[in-house]
Amino acid sequence: QWTAGNIIDDLITRVRDTVGDEHVLLGLSGGVDSSVVAALLHKAIGDQLTCVFVDNGLLRLNEGNEVMQTFAQHMGIRVIRVDAESRFLDALAGEADPEAKRKIIGRTFIEVFDEQASQIDNVQWLAQGTIYPDVIESAGANTGKAHVIKSHHNVGGLPEHMKLKLLEPLRELFKDEVRRIGLELGLPAEMINRHPFPGPGLGVRILGEVHKPYADLLRQADAIFIEALRAEGWYEKTSQAFAVFLPVKSVGVTGDGRRYEYVIALRAVETVDFMTARWAHLPHTFLDQVSRRIINEIDGISRVVYDISGKPPATIEWE
Ligand code: XMP
Repeated sequence: QWTAGNIIDDLITRVRDTVGDEHVLLGLSGGVDSSVVAALLHKAIGDQLTCVFVDNGLLRLNEGNEVMQTFAQHMGIRVIRVDAESRFLDALAGEADPEAKRKIIGRTFIEVFDEQASQIDNVQWLAQGTIYPDVIESAGANTGKAHVIKSHHNVGGLPEHMKLKLLEPLRELFKDEVRRIGLELGLPAEMINRHPFPGPGLGVRILGEVHKPYADLLRQADAIFIEALRAEGWYEKTSQAFAVFLPVKSVGVTGDGRRYEYVIALRAVETVDFMTARWAHLPHTFLDQVSRRIINEIDGISRVVYDISGKPPATIEWE
């Protein structure tokens, strides 16, 4: 009988049998799948698990601290946090092409992860948050993004001498099953029910060249939008919502005069499979509040627009 508890017991037995007393490394992104793997492995093998969390400087506001709080402080999992912001931003400098940016972010992730991994002694296993739909996707044609999606977390380039064996405990599970297991393992509902966040993070939500000041503005705008969606009950009613930074300046006027600042686009969609999506019909009063807050509270933003494009023909992300 399928209950989260039964499945967890079964998975734990299998992990223990497979791993024995060997050590496991996990790249923790803070997303649902890798978070559930972390919680599951911690329960199964405790201190034999070490997680590496790479802060690439393209995370949302407070995201790094929240991941550390949940996993390291709260759950007692061994997590190494790598502050790699300047490394990612340096690698991205001058690059404006979306796919080239994705490649740079993916490659840099692997470099940083490998360096950390090779400093940890005595690791035999690399754990990954692969779930059943990923298995199906990569079995099919290697077309476009579906394949790229997890590739930057696929640590294919691990140092030769490490020769890690792959551990994928969620390989047979669907997303909703992974969520139920995560809740049962004690992960916060807020984390389990989070909208998907792309691996390249804010790197593909800052159009064109990525600069730290842009990322800082975007983080603030995104936080205001998400906080308002949560407060008004819209977060659960949308499938994915976020802010996008447009590197164009627009004129505005406030009490003390003329402004000439950047533009933020808000995007919220409803979808089941993320292959097609419709833009969320958020109430005008709600959009009005969010827009006012963003422009009033963030120095450097003079205008907010709402994206009313469906997928197709538009994609969900802007890059
Ligand atoms: P699009 O923009 O293609 O997005 O309609 C569909 C879903 O995929 C996510 N996405 C990505 N996820 N790496 C990821 O891990 C990526 O490069 C990437 N590009 C898009 C997007 O957020 C949406 O959920």
